Amino acid sequence: MRDTQQIKMPGHSLSVCVDPEPDREGRPALWPSVGEYPIYDPFLYTTMTTDDERNHRFRTALAHLAPDRRILDIGTGQDLLWAAEGVQAGARHALAIEVIEDVFHKAAANLLALTSQDRITLLLGESTNLRFAPRADVCVAEIIGSLAGAEGAAAVLADARNRHLEPGGLVIPHRAVTLAAATRLSDLLPEQPVAFAGSSLPYLRSIFDWHGSPFDVRLRVENPSAGALLSGGAPVEVLDFNGDLQTQQRTTTRLVITWPGLVDGVLTWLNLWCLPDEQPLDALSMKTNWASIYLPLFDNPVPVEPGDTLELTFASTLSDDGVHPDYQLDAVLHTADGQQHRGSLASPHHGGAFRSHAIYRTLFPAS
Ligand SMILES: C[S@@+](CC[C@H](N)C(=O)[O-])C[C@H]1O[C@@H](n2cnc3c(N)ncnc32)[C@H](O)[C@@H]1O
Repeated sequence: MRDTQQIKMPGHSLSVCVDPEPDREGRPALWPSVGEYPIYDPFLYTTMTTDDERNHRFRTALAHLAPDRRILDIGTGQDLLWAAEGVQAGARHALAIEVIEDVFHKAAANLLALTSQDRITLLLGESTNLRFAPRADVCVAEIIGSLAGAEGAAAVLADARNRHLEPGGLVIPHRAVTLAAATRLSDLLPEQPVAFAGSSLPYLRSIFDWHGSPFDVRLRVENPSAGALLSGGAPVEVLDFNGDLQTQQRTTTRLVITWPGLVDGVLTWLNLWCLPDEQPLDALSMKTNWASIYLPLFDNPVPVEPGDTLELTFASTLSDDGVHPDYQLDAVLHTADGQQHRGSLASPHHGGAFRSHAIYRTLFPAS
């Protein structure tokens, strides 16, 4: 059972399939991917400030790297979290930058309550457009997406290394990787409809309002059913913030099917290292605000057997804003009967097609 609700858009309203069940802790839920859009609100910031799995890694890295250094916190958010942690850990000074104006004003009010306020400078703007001196020794930037690069971390941190950091300066986090595995969306949401969680509709609306029209938003799956993955996970996007950082990349990987079932796409999730030698945060197996992203490839689910292979090419190129990546997936599923099933998905940061895949036609029925 799923309900249809209307989202009001300028000049028309849009039908959206909605799960009638209310949110429940641990229950799978389908949301639009939100982090790559300037629609942050207090609820989203709270999911981050209460994410212990994430926070202890950033805190530990700052405790190692901040003492006696000048730090730069890109995307400080309303709570100036890492700027405040950095000076508390002994940084000489923290420069905190926030691009969303409302959030910047909240951060400015919150700064007044910090005992370390005299060692923090807050700037409004996008780091890629700002100039300042002196350069920092350490840059901390939690602009990591559920698809690792989706929030623009590669372009923003390549620019920060180039213009804002001293030669040899370090970036926190150290590394982010996106992994992918074969799956079927309806198996990720067992015993419930393929429909958006009711609580996600205001965010869907904010994304479409920001863009000016609907498009095929990336699909965020919270608490996906673990049994729905039919292959192991393999890296498809690698961001080495202190190494050879690529702002655009293309990988081809072979996912070997290990369980019989049906495949219509891939589930992707984040592995994140704040320091090189630590156990990474794994967004699939750990409780964290990062969820996994489902990317559709085939309109009709393909039956698979162990030993079948999904050859997946995963490419990211910079969108027309020069910061956020557009993703392109191309897949060939080789099944034991000798057939090759081809699928693809263009997943631009903004714009692009609307209702390009069957799943989007289900989620946004034409009325
Ligand atoms: C994922 S939130 C993290 C907030 C906070 N730092 C934390 O870790 O809880 C990312 C924040 O970075 C801001 N942001 C993203 N890219 C930015 C950029 N290039 N310059 C300044 N702010 C940016 C967003 O507006 C958002 O507030």
